Formats: sequence, structure tokens, C-alpha cells
Amino acid sequence: MFISNTKILIKIVTGASSGIGASTALLFSKLGAGLALTGRNAANLENIGKKCQEASGIKPVLLTGDLTNDEDTKKVFQGAVDGHGGKLDILVNNAGIIALGGIQKATLEQYDRLMNTNVRSMVHMTQLAVPYLIETKGNIVNVSSINGLRAFAGVLTYSISKHAIDAFTRCVALDLADKQVRVNCVNPGVTHTELHKRAGLNEQEYEAYLKRARFTHALGRYGEPHEVADCIAFLVSDQASFITGACIPVDGGRHALCPSSLSREEGGVSAMSQSVDV
Ligand SMILES: NC(=O)c1ccc[n+]([C@@H]2O[C@H](COP(=O)([O-])OP(=O)(O)OC[C@H]3O[C@@H](n4cnc5c(N)ncnc54)[C@H](OP(=O)(O)O)[C@@H]3O)[C@@H](O)[C@H]2O)c1
Repeated sequence: MFISNTKILIKIVTGASSGIGASTALLFSKLGAGLALTGRNAANLENIGKKCQEASGIKPVLLTGDLTNDEDTKKVFQGAVDGHGGKLDILVNNAGIIALGGIQKATLEQYDRLMNTNVRSMVHMTQLAVPYLIETKGNIVNVSSINGLRAFAGVLTYSISKHAIDAFTRCVALDLADKQVRVNCVNPGVTHTELHKRAGLNEQEYEAYLKRARFTHALGRYGEPHEVADCIAFLVSDQASFITGACIPVDGGRHALCPSSLSREEGGVSAMSQSVDV
């Protein structure tokens, strides 16, 4: 699989207590990484940590903290590198939230919350990691969204935050290119996790939202977290040694669709603009 040498790489995954981050942590464990995993929910993080240890025999360093709090971020980062002898090879900036509402509904409070969680914390974590990554010629993968590549109605602040992540990825890739530190991002389509329910969708609404992936994604289905994790594992590996500044859709071809290729009757254009899309 995506491993090109026998040395153990030290990897930080933020938001590893759930969804895409948890899947990535588990895959990294299977590939033999020394892991530092972050999240806010200690019980969930402990549970993922156990699964990782079962997979690899190596106990991950588990660090709880709210990444919108600068002091927490510093503590989490320091704990991660101290737990691995001051070394870091790979940073996966995955932690994130979504909120619903277009220009008429989204509040400035929501804007600040989304930007602080999805973007500011990523900038801070990356700044802390860069000196270590230069040392190891390591690399970074940021978790963006199809919302970074395309515009959707009804998710304004989330979309702004994901467009910012794509720009951040390209800029930092150029800033660090002469140090041979690669920086990329993945842009998932709808992926089956806790993200949308946490933003307020009830079970029924979430089921309906997942069902619509049949029309909104070219492959006719939503994605699973392990499919995003596979792409992240590729990007951090030596197999991706000539890839930097890339934003890679992991979205069942959603980015390639034109609205006119979806019929209104089948939940196409109108359905896309009536409710949340990620
Ligand atoms: N699911 C999708 O359809 C989809 C599509 C495109 C992109 N994405 C992106 O994928 C990433 C992961 O989301 P997911 O779908 O896996 O959602 P998820 O299951 O809700 O997981 C989100 C993770 O982020 C962590 N997190 C959120 N806010 C945090 C904060 N302030 N401080 C520290 N950790 C925080 C959560 O920690 P706790 O649970 O411990 O609080 C959790 O581990 C996000 O960036 C999201 O935008 C998801």
C-alpha cells in the first residue's frame, strides 16, 4: 500500500475522534505510523486510539483540546511532538464543522465560528508544525470540501471557509516548496459522518440528504470516510512525491457535473438550491 520505506513516520491527525479523521488515523496505524490524534471528545478519541493500537501494536498519543482556543492548540501541538521525541513528518489538518444558511440567514457569529474552527485553527496548527516539517522534509494534507471548489446555495460561511482552505493550501505549498515540504488538500463530496447531524439535521433529514447523493454525485452515491482516508494516505506517501499545491476532489465526480446535466424531476437543480449541499 502507500508506504515506501520501513521507518516509522510521525503523523498528527486533527479531528481524529470521528468521521474522516478517525478513518485516516486507523489507516495510518495499519501503515505503521507513530500517531498523535486530537479531538475534543475524550471518550471517542480513546475509542479510536484503542482501535489504532489493535491495528498496529503502537499506542497513539491522544490529545484533547478545542482548536479554536489558541492555548489548547499550542498544548495539543506540543504534546504531539513531545510524545514522539520532538519529531514530526506529517500533519493532517482535518478538524472542521459545518453550519447551514445562506446570505439571508448566516450570522456574523456563525461566520466567526466557522472561520475560527475551519481556517484560523488550521493556520495556527500549520505555523506550529512548519519548523518540524522543514526538518524532516515532511508534508501536510488539509481537508477541504467540494464546497472549496464549487459554489452551493445555503451554506455560505462553510463554503467561504473551504475556499479559504484551498487558497491557504496553494499559498503554503509555494511558501514551502524550496524546503521540499509538500502541501495538498482533499476535497470530499458528501461523506457519511457526524458532520451534518451536528449542524442540526435530524435523522430523517440526513437520510434524505444522503439519498440525494444518487443525483448530486456522478457515481450515484455518497462516499465513505475510508475513501477519503485512502486519498490522504496516498498524498502523504512518497508515491505522491511530485504533487504539491493540489486540491484533489474525492467526490464521486461531483465537481465534474454541470447542473444542466441533472434533471429537475430527479432532484437536480432545484433540489440542489433548496437545501444544504456539501
Ligand atoms: N462529511 C462530509 O460530507 C464532508 C464533506 C466534505 C468535507 N468534509 C470535511 O471533513 C472534515 C472532517 O469532518 P467529518 O465529516 O469527519 O465530521 P465529524 O464526524 O463531525 O468529525 C469532525 C471532527 O472535527 C473535530 N472538531 C470539530 N471542531 C473542533 C474544535 N473546535 N476543536 C477540535 N476539534 C474539533 C471533532 O472533534 P470532537 O468530535 O471530538 O468534538 C471531530 O473529530 C471537516 O473539515 C469537514 O468539513 C466533510
